[in-house]
Amino acid sequence: MKNKKLLNYSDYLQLNKLLESQSLMSDKNGQKAHDEMLFIIIHQTYELWFKQIIHELDLVGHLFSQKTIDESKVSNAVLKLNRIIEIQKILIDQIRVLETMTAMDFLEFRDYLFPSSGFQSSQFRIIENRLGLHQRDRLSYMNKNYKDAIKDDEKDLVNTSESVKSIFDLLERWLERTPFLSFEGFDFWEKYSESVTTLLKEEENLIRNRPNQSGEELEFNLKSHKNTVSSFQAFLSSEKHEELINKGEKRLSHKATKAALLIFLYRDEPILHSPFNLLSKLMDIDELFTNWRQRHATMVHRMIGGKIGTGGSSGHKYLRSAAQKHKIFSDLSDLSTFFIKRSALPKLPKNIKNSLGYYHQS
Ligand code: HEM
Repeated sequence: MKNKKLLNYSDYLQLNKLLESQSLMSDKNGQKAHDEMLFIIIHQTYELWFKQIIHELDLVGHLFSQKTIDESKVSNAVLKLNRIIEIQKILIDQIRVLETMTAMDFLEFRDYLFPSSGFQSSQFRIIENRLGLHQRDRLSYMNKNYKDAIKDDEKDLVNTSESVKSIFDLLERWLERTPFLSFEGFDFWEKYSESVTTLLKEEENLIRNRPNQSGEELEFNLKSHKNTVSSFQAFLSSEKHEELINKGEKRLSHKATKAALLIFLYRDEPILHSPFNLLSKLMDIDELFTNWRQRHATMVHRMIGGKIGTGGSSGHKYLRSAAQKHKIFSDLSDLSTFFIKRSALPKLPKNIKNSLGYYHQS
């Protein structure tokens, strides 16, 4: 023990490697551009945070791959997802630092970067895949697969992230296994359907009896009510839901959707707090990635105007479309359409309230 070398801050963090990893292309080309250092450090910082996000997703994936997923595992997953959320906020904020570089300053070294691009970030793709971005939902440009841009020695990791169960898949399986949907003497879906039918009837009566309404207005309001009725009918039917899944308009299975709805509607029940938090955090993560994509697209517009990207895409236009399309948990957000007010919720019988514990077993 006597001769054991004391751990040193620089050695522990391997700062020698880290701080020697910024080589400016402009410098190599004999035209050193001051702002290229910022450009490199910002990207490297992003990649480090991406690494941390993947580390958290690995744990959440592991927790949800277990045979039994008890309350403590759900709470632990919520904590880690919340960490990802806090990191994402920093990722969005960081763009402001990059924007201290002007478009003219960027031009000083942009030509040296071709054809490299953030499009080639394998960690970014791994995050998308691990969360559950469906390959069908990916935007392609020039009919190329996104993996064509990935370096050969990084392809295996990206392929693996496509083949393992994503957080979306694991969530779906967990929701499908929830024991809340049917108790003896209480079938949630049946009770929910009854409440919806009553509510829609009441709404129709209100429309018909609205004072000072012209015939045209009445017709318009009844038509929009009819649309609401149809969308509820489609929501209530597992066959219709299946059709939407086949058309690519929905993704989450009907059983999992019903369980998610129950969690949202009865989230005041203490036992549903963690499941509710879990669903909320996943929606937050999806939303913050969309925010990052939009923010990145706005910054790119400001930096390169209408020019194409160094990776060959249409630039900010491609990025805006990707922000619109690359969403994962939209099915959860869509559920708000089918929320009903607390006072109209089917009352849970006392024995169910008492036995509302949860313990998932495959
Ligand atoms: C001056 C700064 C930047 C400019 C002008 C820029 C430009 C672009 C453009 C035009 C694309 C579309 C692909 C292409 O044609 O190249 C792209 C994609 C991308 N960039 Fe940036 N970028 C900048 C900074 C960053 C930073 C700091 C990150 C952080 C990691 C980043 C990450 C990405 C990612 C992940 C993609 C792929 C997005 C997707 O396909 O959905 N970019 N960037």
